[in-house]
Amino acid sequence: MMFVLDAVSKAYGSTVALHPLSLAVARGETLAVVGPSGAGKTTLLHLLGGVTQPSAGAVWIAGRPLASLPPGRELARLVGVMHQQLDLVPHLAAVHNVLAGRLGEWRLLRSLVSLVAPREIERALAALERVGIRDKLYERTARLSGGEQQRVALARLLVQDPAAIVADEPVASLDPARAEDLLQLLTGIARDDGKTLVASLHSIQLARRYFARIVGLRRGRLAFDLPAAAVSQAHVDRLYDLDERADDLATAAAR
Ligand SMILES: Nc1ncnc2c1ncn2[C@@H]1O[C@H](COP(=O)(O)OP(=O)(O)OP(=O)(O)O)[C@@H](O)[C@H]1O
Ligand SMILES: [Mg+2]
Repeated sequence: MMFVLDAVSKAYGSTVALHPLSLAVARGETLAVVGPSGAGKTTLLHLLGGVTQPSAGAVWIAGRPLASLPPGRELARLVGVMHQQLDLVPHLAAVHNVLAGRLGEWRLLRSLVSLVAPREIERALAALERVGIRDKLYERTARLSGGEQQRVALARLLVQDPAAIVADEPVASLDPARAEDLLQLLTGIARDDGKTLVASLHSIQLARRYFARIVGLRRGRLAFDLPAAAVSQAHVDRLYDLDERADDLATAAAR
């Protein structure tokens, strides 16, 4: 298994972001996490990526307890995270943001940029080529479109070359056609390189089209966990509709 969550929960102060849930993701699997805003998608992805520790329960990444994997090279070999906010350095050229995947911290990178070996530049070039923006190599990242910045973030992950990719709303800021392009690229890379892929999405249609398995989250709980083909419109309606809140209010009013 690439990821195992065993009765994992996460609270921020008095806010429960995730109630205890268990989940296993096999190596090479593609999993989409869907659900309304605030459902806990980012929290779940951050637990899988080792970005945050659970409040209770255990997280295992490639058979290793997360507690034994501090942020660093070893964790970076296992899992790469594409954050909802991309974490690119706007004033650096695309190629330098991509190389940050190799060198870790960009603060470190900044002092090393002039010393980077040609071999590393080749890696960055190959990654930018693969995501289709080789011609933007020396463009300042701030001047790239949202879709191009998404590709720079993906190229950075390719250079990092982790066993699993965790992508938080990788297509949130893209128009429908570019969203499809990026998902095709992302799922193609996962398939061709045998990487596990977990991504959160707002579009259930895209989740069904590009992922093998879909997990629905609602208010920090697992609403469903199904093969993509088994997710019906009823599942989706129930996940997103506001009726349940209306029900809660009605119950409260009746008391
Ligand atoms: N650092 C934090 N401190 C306090 N509360 C937080 C923190 N991060 C998340 N939360 C809360 O936890 C809950 C789940 O948040 P999360 O970001 O995981 O949702 P999400 O499904 O990713 O939403 P979105 O679709 O808007 O990105 C929310 O109620 C949120 O306010
Ligand atoms: Mg989120």
